[in-house]
Amino acid sequence: MKKVSTASLLKMKSEGDKISALTAYDASFAKLFDEQGVDVILIGDSLGMVLKGDDSTLSVTLDEVAYHTKCVAKGTTRAFVVADMPFMSFANENDTYMNASTLMRAGASMVKLEGGEWLLKTIEGLIERSVPVCGHLGLTPQSVNVIGGFKVQGRNTEQAEALLKSALALEQAGIQMLVLECVPQQLAKQVSEALKIPVIGIGAGADTDGQILVMHDMFGISANYMPKFSKNYLVENHDIRSAVGQYIAEVKSGEFPSQEHAFS
Ligand code: KIV
Repeated sequence: MKKVSTASLLKMKSEGDKISALTAYDASFAKLFDEQGVDVILIGDSLGMVLKGDDSTLSVTLDEVAYHTKCVAKGTTRAFVVADMPFMSFANENDTYMNASTLMRAGASMVKLEGGEWLLKTIEGLIERSVPVCGHLGLTPQSVNVIGGFKVQGRNTEQAEALLKSALALEQAGIQMLVLECVPQQLAKQVSEALKIPVIGIGAGADTDGQILVMHDMFGISANYMPKFSKNYLVENHDIRSAVGQYIAEVKSGEFPSQEHAFS
């Protein structure tokens, strides 16, 4: 099977072929997801919550993401591997370049940064230095203390217009993929239609170019909590492989997410 690349992800968007993505943090799950045909695997800083048991992602260090990226890369043959730049790891230019290079050397093919227009120069600098970048807008969990909780973003006209403007600016700066988290379905549709690059949604409705879930959520094992936008695929399946297979099939067909998983 041919390895997924920035070029094939772009082609998938242009052909309306939905992109399936999951988080993973170790080689065994990465291998299983890869074998089932997941297109993108993210080593998310969600590891702070689902692996370490924290109530936010802020404690996650670059070394931790690099360690888990190395594990995931070893298990992956076909999927495109993206690693999260954790909180404060891209606060200034030099740190950003060194930290991004650590994640690329660990096995990532792209790094993901949370934030809007304040990142434009950083993104340009990374691209100039041959580091592909994924943006992340909407609910950006690293800003949870500024936002005041894990809340749906872009619900009023002013916020929605600002988010669309940020997405266009990030694309102009060179990002090659965008994660859109917890925004109304209509806004996610608008952003996905406005951008040429793939937009991957989580809690953003069915009209994005692909979907991502935190693996612990899609197996229903996140401690005492199932987000509205997620679905427990183990309920209808007897084993993990068929659960992942069903998730991929439902993303590809557009069956997931349904209205019950979307915000308005
Ligand atoms: O950290 C993470 O797992 C993420 C996903 C929720 C997209 O950023």
